[in-house]
Order: sequence, then structure tokens, then C-alpha cells
Amino acid sequence: MTVEPKMSLREELAAIAAEARAQIERAADLKALKSVEVEFLGRKGGKITNTLRGLGQLPAEERPAVGKLVNEVRDELEAVLKTKEGALREAERQEKLRTERVDVTLPGVAFDSGHLHPVTRTLREIKQIFIGLGFEVVDGPEVETEYYNFEGLNIPADHAARDMWDSFYLGGDLLLRSHTSPVQVRVMEKQQPPVRVIVPGKCFRRDAVDATHHFQFHQVEGLLVDEGISFAHLKGLLGEFARQMFGKQRKSRFVPEYFPFTEPSAGMMIDCFACEGSGCRICKQSGWIEILGSGMVHPAVLENVGYDTQKYTGLAFGMGVERIAMLRHGIDDIRLFYENDLRFLRQF
Ligand code: PHE
Repeated sequence: MTVEPKMSLREELAAIAAEARAQIERAADLKALKSVEVEFLGRKGGKITNTLRGLGQLPAEERPAVGKLVNEVRDELEAVLKTKEGALREAERQEKLRTERVDVTLPGVAFDSGHLHPVTRTLREIKQIFIGLGFEVVDGPEVETEYYNFEGLNIPADHAARDMWDSFYLGGDLLLRSHTSPVQVRVMEKQQPPVRVIVPGKCFRRDAVDATHHFQFHQVEGLLVDEGISFAHLKGLLGEFARQMFGKQRKSRFVPEYFPFTEPSAGMMIDCFACEGSGCRICKQSGWIEILGSGMVHPAVLENVGYDTQKYTGLAFGMGVERIAMLRHGIDDIRLFYENDLRFLRQF
């Protein structure tokens, strides 16, 4: 009986194991370690795995011992590999910590925070004043039907006053609302008096754009309907608004106006807050500035929504938000609000 094959297999195994240990030791990173693992312990073609094939040539009684040895070498190499892997991982982690270190004491990057648009600010101030006076804020659609924009407000199709609210038509009887007044009708259709609402919102008109006109602008509508509401309430309410908005010594004056949905109708003037009435650029030397349109709700409008006109009366008003903002800040061109020129916007 010859012991050659057994000896050579043991020797071979020892040589392979020594080689594997050396390569594991040299592996510089996890990738290199992985290829060493595949080279020696790979299930197919790994050098250690391959030695098992030699087992068949050994005498039967030798096979268990050599097989056991192969397993032991494999287990040992796996353990060495694992230890090395742990060491490499830790080294990588340390390297990462070193290279990704941030200096938390460096100054931060400041954000350019901006501020609200002057029209938004003015709108909020107007809302705040009327909320303080007990009004509720509601809104309505920017795309309206002819009924709400006109007929419901006592402006029949053939009435010349339609020219005042000429609009963009979208086809059919749909149009971009030319004022916020249609929401008066919508609100009253849904509830019985008392009604006390303001309606801020966007409006559209087929106007040629110039320093004081734009095809798109904002209004705040107001509507108060209850028993016994009179023109005295209108003057008292709007006078209080003017004082809160433009200064507590403000005087107001009402001049005749015409709106189909109010009767009587009145334009409200305040004495000029810029020159205290002596005449300047803002009041065009007149000492007075018109700030809104108003009037007592026309009975025909109340009838349109089914209110009892023997019992209820109402007051309504509408103001242009851009106009108020222009007056307050001495801005002479409405187009500046929409051009997004930061040199203009940063002043407010
Ligand atoms: N809707 C009118 C306009 O756009 C303003 C207004 C509202 C007048 C309410 C009277 C009452 O010009």
C-alpha cells in the first residue's frame, strides 16, 4: 500500500491554505477579499473545494480523515476571512468618517426670504378690518355665468350698463367675472338674512391696459343684508373702514354714482391722506380721493334671490385692491404690480 496520494493531498492542502492565508492578509479592500474568497472557497472551482475531488483516489479508510481535514482547513480559512473582513469594514468606516467630516462651525448659507406682495398685504389689511367689524370672508368662482355677472344683478342683456363690465367670454354663457358682485347673488341664494360677508377676489375686464387699468385686478366686495339696514349704516360702516385703513382723522364724503344693482348708489371719497386735503399729486389737486363704489342693494336684486323686500334691506360696496394699494403707497402705475420687477417689489 502506498501513502503517496494521501501525503501529497495533505501537502497540497497545506500549501493551498498557506497561499490563501497570505492572500487574505494582503487584501487591500473588501473587493479584493471577495475575489480571494472565490478563488479558494468558491463552491465551483475554488481551490480548496477542488481538493475534495482528489478524495476519490484515496484508499477508502483514508477518506474520512482527509475529508475531515479539508473541512477543518475550510472552516479555518473562513474564520480568517471573516476577521479580515471585519477589519477592512472598520477601516473603510474610519476613512469615510475622516473624508466626510463637516465643519459645523462654518457659517451657514443664508436664505433670501422675500416678503408678501404689496397687493396681498393690502388685501389682508382690508380683510382684517372687516373681520374686526363682524364680516365673514367668502369667495366665488372666477369663471361666471352671464346670469350671476349680469341678470342676477339687475343688468339685463340689452342694458347699456353692460359696457361698464365688458368681459372676456369663454363661449356659451360663460365669462371671466368682471367684478366680485356676482358672489352677492350666490351668497344670498344659499342663505336667509342676516348676511354679512366680504368677498375678496380676482376680476377681469376687456380694458386697454394703461397706468390705471388692467385686464386683471382684485376687488373686495361687501354685502350686509338685514332688517332695518339704512344708508346711515352704509356711511357709518365705510367711514370706519376709511379711518382704520387711511388714518383715524379721515373725513368721508359720498357722491352720486350709478350702479344697476344699488339704489341709491354712491361713490365714496375720503379727504386726501397725503396732503390732508390741501391738494397734491395723489388727489390730483382736488383734496379728495374716490376709494370705492357703494349703495343700497336694489330691491330687484333681493327679489331675484327670493328675499322679502318688505322686511329686508341691504348695503353693498366694492373696492379695487390695487387702487387702494396704489393710493397708500403713492404708486402711479398699476402695471408695476404685475411685472415682477424686484427693484419695485423690494420697496414694500
Ligand atoms: N361691482 C361694482 C364695480 O365693479 C362695485 C360695486 C359693488 C358697487 C357693490 C356697488 C356695490 O364697479
